[in-house]
Amino acid sequence: RIPADETPPETMDAARDQAARCTRCDLCHAATRTVWGEGNPKADLMIVGEAPGDQEDLQGRPFVGPAGKLLRDNLDQLGIDQDRIWFTNAVKHFKFAPRGKRRLHQNPDAGEISHCRWWLGLERRFVRPRLTLALGASAAFALTGRRDPLSPRRGKVEVALDGGAVLLTWHPSRILRLADTEASAALEEFRSDLRLGAHQAI
Ligand code: URA
Repeated sequence: RIPADETPPETMDAARDQAARCTRCDLCHAATRTVWGEGNPKADLMIVGEAPGDQEDLQGRPFVGPAGKLLRDNLDQLGIDQDRIWFTNAVKHFKFAPRGKRRLHQNPDAGEISHCRWWLGLERRFVRPRLTLALGASAAFALTGRRDPLSPRRGKVEVALDGGAVLLTWHPSRILRLADTEASAALEEFRSDLRLGAHQAI
């Protein structure tokens, strides 16, 4: 499903155009559109989530749903300038199971993440961030190739498959799913990782 004539794009815009027609995995069939990254194309800090959710799929922009709001609100509260960040996802199509009128989010699998690494790799070559913040296990796997549990790795910097530096943290949707004290503990860890990432990169 990789087009024979696909030559690596030379600009971010060309990459975005090619990705809009991507059929490397099956997620393109049910999703509304490819959700490409956005932000500062020369950012020192890149933030990588898992995949677009329902809102992202409809609006065509990353981090515009509830988890994205949690991320962006905390960046604002910590005084971290969003104009200095490139926001993207490990997988660029929404994966879901239809339930009546609703679309229930599903995690992309290792194969889907691996296919989509092509696009993430291109974004990384164009942006060349000093540091990347990986939100959750899917982003961690996309960037580092390692699938072992996130808990002992969170808050630490690992080397990405492409040699870059990756700081691992929770996915914001995890914080939204937890209750009470667990949620506030995870939120504090998340905020401390945002601070550390911004401090190291920007
Ligand atoms: N929005 C995104 O674009 N990605 C995520 O991982 C979560 C919310």
